[in-house]
Amino acid sequence: MKIIGISASPRKNESTHFLLEQCLNEVKVATAASGKRLEVELIDLAPLKFHGCIACNACKKNVSCSQLDDYQQLIPKLADPEVLGIIMATPVYMGCMSSQAKAFLDRSVLFRRNGFMFKNKLGGVIAFGGSRNGGQELTIQAVHAAMMIHDMIIVGDGDHFGGAAWANHPDGYQGDTIGIDTAKNLGRRMVEVAQMMHNI
Ligand SMILES: Cc1cc2nc3c(=O)[nH]c(=O)nc-3n(C[C@H](O)[C@H](O)[C@H](O)COP(=O)(O)O)c2cc1C
Repeated sequence: MKIIGISASPRKNESTHFLLEQCLNEVKVATAASGKRLEVELIDLAPLKFHGCIACNACKKNVSCSQLDDYQQLIPKLADPEVLGIIMATPVYMGCMSSQAKAFLDRSVLFRRNGFMFKNKLGGVIAFGGSRNGGQELTIQAVHAAMMIHDMIIVGDGDHFGGAAWANHPDGYQGDTIGIDTAKNLGRRMVEVAQMMHNI
């Protein structure tokens, strides 16, 4: 059983990736504490080259996409029934998700069109903004909307919407301990709900 984390920043190893790692580490810690097994995998979209959906409707026939780009390598990973949940991490761009996150979500329609393959998977979201209040909550909710279109089960951080952090913190993005804690709390909450649902 597995939780997949998607880093939807165009930049490798920057704030979004860091915050997702913090969240996934907490998934590991919480899982180990229970003595059960729940793997994690971080998928970084930064090196991948793919565009948004072109509405060719090829995926209405089967689990496939006509665009032969790097999204192809994500299809088997996401189609794996062992995946219990997906945590999307995105930078805030112009008050909402990155175009990488939107392209990823639009292309994921192929899983919906083939029997709602994400139905009942857990969905959590993390947003890193340059400003303290730059649109993190709206961004999280925009990703939640796509997750609901998949009939996924939305998980928050046990208090609010999910992981929300401030990259331009005076101590650097690693210094926003309050924001980092929200991402860690989301990780713990994902494990809690996964354990309730799947007896793991
Ligand atoms: C095109 C663009 C638009 C941005 N828009 C916002 C915004 O609306 N609100 C905000 O708080 N930060 C905004 N930022 C800042 C990024 O969200 C912030 O630097 C984030 O930490 C970048 O993630 P990364 O380090 O993973 O690349 C924007 C950055 C870029 C490049």
